[in-house]
Amino acid sequence: MNYSRYVTTLSQNRQGSLIREMTSLLTNASPELVFMAGGLPNPHMFPFQAASVTLKDGRALTLHPKLMTDCLQYGPTPGYPPLVKQLKDLTQKLHSPPCWSDTELIVTAGSQDGLCKAIEMMINPGDYFVTQEPCYTGTLSILNPYKPCYLTVSSDHEGMRPEALREALAQWRPEDVKDSDGNVPKVLYINPNACNPTGVSLTEERRREIYRIASDYNLIILEDDPYYFVQFGDMKDFPPSFLSMDIEGRVLRFDSFSKVLSSGIRVGYVTGPKPLIQRVLLHMQVSILHAPSVSQVLVSELLKTWGEEGFFNHTHSVQEFYLKQRNAMVAAAEKHLTGLCEWAVPTGGMFLWLKLPNVPDTWDMILKRALKKNIVLVPGRAFMCDSSKPCNYMRAAFSIVTPDQMDTGFKNLAELIHEEMQR
Ligand SMILES: Cc1ncc(COP(=O)(O)O)c(C=O)c1O
Repeated sequence: MNYSRYVTTLSQNRQGSLIREMTSLLTNASPELVFMAGGLPNPHMFPFQAASVTLKDGRALTLHPKLMTDCLQYGPTPGYPPLVKQLKDLTQKLHSPPCWSDTELIVTAGSQDGLCKAIEMMINPGDYFVTQEPCYTGTLSILNPYKPCYLTVSSDHEGMRPEALREALAQWRPEDVKDSDGNVPKVLYINPNACNPTGVSLTEERRREIYRIASDYNLIILEDDPYYFVQFGDMKDFPPSFLSMDIEGRVLRFDSFSKVLSSGIRVGYVTGPKPLIQRVLLHMQVSILHAPSVSQVLVSELLKTWGEEGFFNHTHSVQEFYLKQRNAMVAAAEKHLTGLCEWAVPTGGMFLWLKLPNVPDTWDMILKRALKKNIVLVPGRAFMCDSSKPCNYMRAAFSIVTPDQMDTGFKNLAELIHEEMQR
């Protein structure tokens, strides 16, 4: 593929940082190397000596002085090498990317960081951007300052509708846009599993059809998948990722540990075609330099201590927890919101997406009146590309509320909706 058509002038103008490149020479350097480049602070002057982190299963991760230095020192931009290796192994196991030899993986400060940099690499102000709607607010917040020309694709209980994607693109003929360097659609954003905010996942059939359409129109697919491990069901039945079907090198996949290990630890990773990953890397070289070393070492040591089986046992327990939470929230919705709201039962993640057929717009109801009923939800407009239009949806998160709180919250919400219907 010719990747240059996807890369903005700003991103093309980025040059590698000499000092950062030199720092990478320290990885696996021979003891004879006299490294006088780079302003690496002397770790002897850091006040931290060692650390031990106790896991909930009682085991301890011991960060002895050498590991502690890895935690505290500048590291290579693509990531802490042992972690990069572990993540590559995991990605190969879970997704077997068909173009693996042309694929690169780098660690980012959460997937938001990777998304933000990938979008900056590919989008100029006013460019087209093809996205599912509703769409994760964090992505819209990155994009909105570019004032993009959104091509929105509706979704239903099985995720983005391929026929709606074809309709959105129907004003162009594939052969006219495929190789164009002009302002034509080039990027498709999709949150395939347990979508934020709808809570539903794309079926395998739809994924294959969407990949075909992306191929016809030569689109890069931004596969934002932080809820991969929070899908409800057996891992062996998870639908294939876009990365796993990417025979053409058109997928940039964003993974995150936020939902399964820790969100504050800020570790995610981006996998995709080398020429695009290289551009993201150049941006990192001048912004965060690399994802936090302490976090990367901690995740790496955790994965090492657990091994593959231990990690999957953990992700399974995370799934089971959120499944129970989902069941409790759906039960509370059935009890209090039947007849007032409609919803699809989430297939993963943390959110219930509620439609209010009798309330034309939830914005004022939620932002001005819900707090008086002691409830806070997110109005649907926050997930719409044009947030000025009325929207009769809202998002309820079932991640941290207890079943009792869900019951009280939805009882109050029902009262609020009844009052709203009288207005
Ligand atoms: C769809 C989606 N993408 C990306 C993110 C950002 O995740 P991270 O914490 O890895 O930056 C989130 C977080 O809520 C999300 O829901």
